[in-house]
Amino acid sequence: MKNAVVTGGASGIGLEFVKLLIDDNYKVFIVDNNEENLDGLHNIICSDKFQPIKLDLSKVTSPKIIHEKLKKENIDVLINNAGFGTFGKFYKTKWERDAEMINLHVLNTAHLTKLFLKDMIKRNEGKILNISSVAAFQPGPMMSLYYATKAFILHFTEAISNEVKDKNITISVLCPGQTKTNFQDYLSTKKNKISFNTGCPIEVAKYGYNALKNNITVSVPGFMNKIIVLLNRLLPRSTSVNLVRYIQEKNRD
Ligand SMILES: NC(=O)c1ccc[n+]([C@@H]2O[C@H](COP(=O)([O-])OP(=O)(O)OC[C@H]3O[C@@H](n4cnc5c(N)ncnc54)[C@H](OP(=O)(O)O)[C@@H]3O)[C@@H](O)[C@H]2O)c1
Repeated sequence: MKNAVVTGGASGIGLEFVKLLIDDNYKVFIVDNNEENLDGLHNIICSDKFQPIKLDLSKVTSPKIIHEKLKKENIDVLINNAGFGTFGKFYKTKWERDAEMINLHVLNTAHLTKLFLKDMIKRNEGKILNISSVAAFQPGPMMSLYYATKAFILHFTEAISNEVKDKNITISVLCPGQTKTNFQDYLSTKKNKISFNTGCPIEVAKYGYNALKNNITVSVPGFMNKIIVLLNRLLPRSTSVNLVRYIQEKNRD
């Protein structure tokens, strides 16, 4: 049996990755900070091929803790999926939460990737999937850090994927659009008004997982999301920034 790690695997898109990996005969180590959801996994997953690990991945010490615990397991697949968003002008959001996002999306995505990639390089085998967003393709007023940290994940992953292309290692990045998970509820107390073009976590996870298996570096699920990405290349940068601001305010205000 092969082994996989999924961060943020206790709900949403991450949980769907866990199910796909178990179906492919992986044992999955699920790292998440939500104890209640981790405890409930035995009622959702009809298999004992998983192990929950409760850990806050916004702490800078967490990647080493996970790696120390799992390095002997010869991890074949790492999915860096844990993430969250905050809504509001940057000068109004809480710095403590901002810093947690930077640690989770930027610092710890890079650190976990480095720790497990080094092991994969030694074995010349492995797969890494990082979860970014369509938000990665342009600046995002009202969610400035979220868009910027997801841009980091996209660019970082594309670059290291290129660095290992002569090896038996695949590194891929999935860029979902709005998807029906708890993420949208946690984002803001203001309810999400735009339901058009909302993806289903099962389909989104399948899309990213298949891209990883087929050695596709960047995957964007959904026709409309592909159009959004394309439009960002065609429109003047200031237009696309103003458009995001308009959509974000329409969506939440
Ligand atoms: N849903 C969307 O519209 C959308 C769109 C584009 C990209 N994404 C990306 O998709 C990924 C998965 O999100 P999702 O939509 O599936 O949301 P979700 O249902 O909220 O799942 C995210 C999981 O990550 C966990 N998590 C959050 N912060 C963590 C931390 N510091 N340490 C450990 N675990 C942590 C969450 O726990 P808690 O329940 O305690 O928060 C939750 O179990 C994220 O990277 C997100 O940015 C989502």
